[in-house]
Amino acid sequence: MQFYQMSTKLLRDTVGELNDSLTSVVLAGLFFTLTVGYVSKRLLRESSDKNLKYPPYIPSSIPFLGHAIAFGKSPIEFLENAYEKYGPVFSFTMVGKTFTFLLGSDAAALMFNSKNEDLNAEDVYSKLTTPVFGKGVAYDVPNHVFLEQKKMFKTGLNIARFKQHVKLVEAETVDYFQRWGDSGERNLFEALSELIILTASSCLHGKEIRSMLNERVAQLYADLDGGFSHAAWLLPTWVPLPSFRKRDKAHLEIKKMFFKVIEKRRQSGEKADDILQTLIDATYKEGRPMNDNEVAGMLIGLLLAGQHTSSTTSAWLGFFLARDKALQEHCYAEQKAVCGEDLPPLDYDQLKDLSLLERCLKETLRLRPPIMSMMRMARTPQTAAGYTIPVGHQICVSPTVNHRLRDTWMERMEFNPDRYLNDNPAAGEKFAYIPFGAGRHRCIGENFAYVQIKTIWSTLLRMFEFDLVDGYFPAVNYTTMIHTPYNPIIRYKRRKQ
Ligand code: HEM
Repeated sequence: MQFYQMSTKLLRDTVGELNDSLTSVVLAGLFFTLTVGYVSKRLLRESSDKNLKYPPYIPSSIPFLGHAIAFGKSPIEFLENAYEKYGPVFSFTMVGKTFTFLLGSDAAALMFNSKNEDLNAEDVYSKLTTPVFGKGVAYDVPNHVFLEQKKMFKTGLNIARFKQHVKLVEAETVDYFQRWGDSGERNLFEALSELIILTASSCLHGKEIRSMLNERVAQLYADLDGGFSHAAWLLPTWVPLPSFRKRDKAHLEIKKMFFKVIEKRRQSGEKADDILQTLIDATYKEGRPMNDNEVAGMLIGLLLAGQHTSSTTSAWLGFFLARDKALQEHCYAEQKAVCGEDLPPLDYDQLKDLSLLERCLKETLRLRPPIMSMMRMARTPQTAAGYTIPVGHQICVSPTVNHRLRDTWMERMEFNPDRYLNDNPAAGEKFAYIPFGAGRHRCIGENFAYVQIKTIWSTLLRMFEFDLVDGYFPAVNYTTMIHTPYNPIIRYKRRKQ
């Protein structure tokens, strides 16, 4: 009974308040089916391959749910404790699924060197991403097609484009932060999230789509983005949750809006110098151009792939700078030293030379990597650290844990941007620092993210001085899929020109 109540609570927490009794019945049925399936699967597996050495399994007295609650509350602490007790490779159960973590650089190599046919990304991500991005792109297509799509986008991210992006992002930032006035206390994460939709749309979608971005469209993006939830990950897509319905409606409306813009571009014969044009003109190896549905899906995917990752990173960077006023002033002095005393408009070459700001961003990505774990489904048995990982395990690597392993990082919890100037053990380990992943699924937005975040923070450092509010440095909010700052209010004062 207690088991049922706990599970019901977890599901209810996950999906929010459900007044709809039909939904409750569906969930109860689903829960029962999953439990039976899970128990028989474990019994079957345990009775078969007795000779193989499986990774150490962290036992739990709660069947099916397993460690979901402890992990959900404090995932990093959970993984660090498990690492101490069991070593770099171990398995445990959550919500009927078995997860095997590969911690540390050596163990992580299995994920990054593997083929997609063996450790598969679509099996774990598609359920979440396909309803949001749409069919025909990313994890809805075979990986070799997605790799081609990634390459098409990457050709659009060249230095000439970055030079335009610096101007666009600076202008958007100045314009957005006018509303902050001369001094006050505001929610930094919320502001940066709003700003980054505008900057990313300017840079990645082009001027037509950016000009349509009003409050209604921002709400559509928010509804679409609501699709990235624990509920969407755990529950079948057909469950009639209001958030799923909103997501699907927003998807259709946004697609319609993008189709009109793509069509107009194609018909006008105008060749704009932007990423939308790159995607319209790109062709697959077989010679076929992307169709409108694929171009629109890519536009949605690119906006959302960079949205939470860049806004959380920018917000955490702000709090690290606010906590260390001396470092903040060094970053401001660097603006003057590199760009000139009178702080002229930013340009790309100077931005590259802002090496202290760059190291602060790198260090932020070490201590607060937005993607806390990367996942793959084992489709074939895998070997790591002498253990056999069976088919069906979800294999995970956690940048957050790798970035602070005791054996690898000195003064591991200190925010020290200068650590990258000196020799450090982490530099000798291939996968000790992996905020953008590695291997065939590696991020293609890294350079763009650096340009965007450095431009935003150069502009903000020139406009304001920042302080923590009464010394409060935000705790990590583990309830969101990307670990955001909790209660992210910052104090600011406009600098005298
Ligand atoms: C601070 C910013 C960002 C961080 C920390 C970040 C992190 C990551 C990570 C860890 C992965 C690997 C996922 C995996 O292996 O499962 C990834 C993949 C990817 N990212 Fe980013 N990302 C950022 C910004 C962006 C931006 C701005 C874009 C696009 C404009 C983007 C597009 C992608 C794409 C297309 C993939 C490929 C996924 C795959 O091949 O499976 N990212 N990112």
